[in-house]
Amino acid sequence: MTQNKMPKHVAIIMDGNGRWAKKKGKIRTFGHKAGVESVRAAVRFARQNNIESLTLFAFSSENWNRPAEEVGVLMDLFNLVLNSEAKKLNKNDVRLKVIGDTSRFDQKLVDKINKAEEMTQHNSSLILNIAANYGGRWDIVNAAKQISEKVASGELDSAQIDEHKFNQFTSLADQPELDLLIRTGGEHRISNFLMWQCAYAELYFTDTLWPDFDEQAFQLAVNDFADRQRRFGMTGEQVETK
Ligand code: IPE
Ligand code: IPE
Ligand code: MG
Repeated sequence: MTQNKMPKHVAIIMDGNGRWAKKKGKIRTFGHKAGVESVRAAVRFARQNNIESLTLFAFSSENWNRPAEEVGVLMDLFNLVLNSEAKKLNKNDVRLKVIGDTSRFDQKLVDKINKAEEMTQHNSSLILNIAANYGGRWDIVNAAKQISEKVASGELDSAQIDEHKFNQFTSLADQPELDLLIRTGGEHRISNFLMWQCAYAELYFTDTLWPDFDEQAFQLAVNDFADRQRRFGMTGEQVETK
């Protein structure tokens, strides 16, 4: 089989911080803080294994529904992590990209995001996409909106719109197709993450809570991926003789 065994693009729904903290008798936000170390480990693993893109779900468009205090802590944490990690990412040749509707964030945070993206824009060892105020449906609607504006202005002919064209207007355009989607924390759902990009991704669910997800746990997910036969609609025999 000629299939490449290493995923080029991995996305992770980092779930289970609150339950991890609760199990330890701590408040939920303690779990979010602990989860930052797992983010560092995941980035390290991705770089060491030549994964090209790593997309992490940090805050969903539905997470605004949480208590204001928890949302506040998550925003503060995002700020803090940008402060402490942006330079390190740059040194490690990682390109940072934030995907999602950042218009709802305060201007100071938006400025910080723009600065970090700009500083790291020419790095090429890994693209780290952080999904913040991200929703899969938002991504699709946002693409449709941009396309309709181009059609209305005459820049684009509607006859030219196909899947390839549409993809160019989504958040992860120009990056490798999503190969593997991991969800920690035991739930078996997508929670409005990468809906368009999930079309042919391999899905991996683990009960491990996000703060416990280390490089070994990431390796297990990658091993599981390597054992699968990706058929893309073909028969197993066709894939084997390819
Ligand atoms: C994921 O952990 C982090 C975010 C959604 C920001 P949770 O906070 O959802 O943790 P659980 O699912 O309540 O344990
Ligand atoms: C998904 O986790 C969002 C992130 C990990 C950022 P949630 O904990 O918000 O998902 P649901 O609400 O259980 O579906
Ligand atoms: Mg959760």
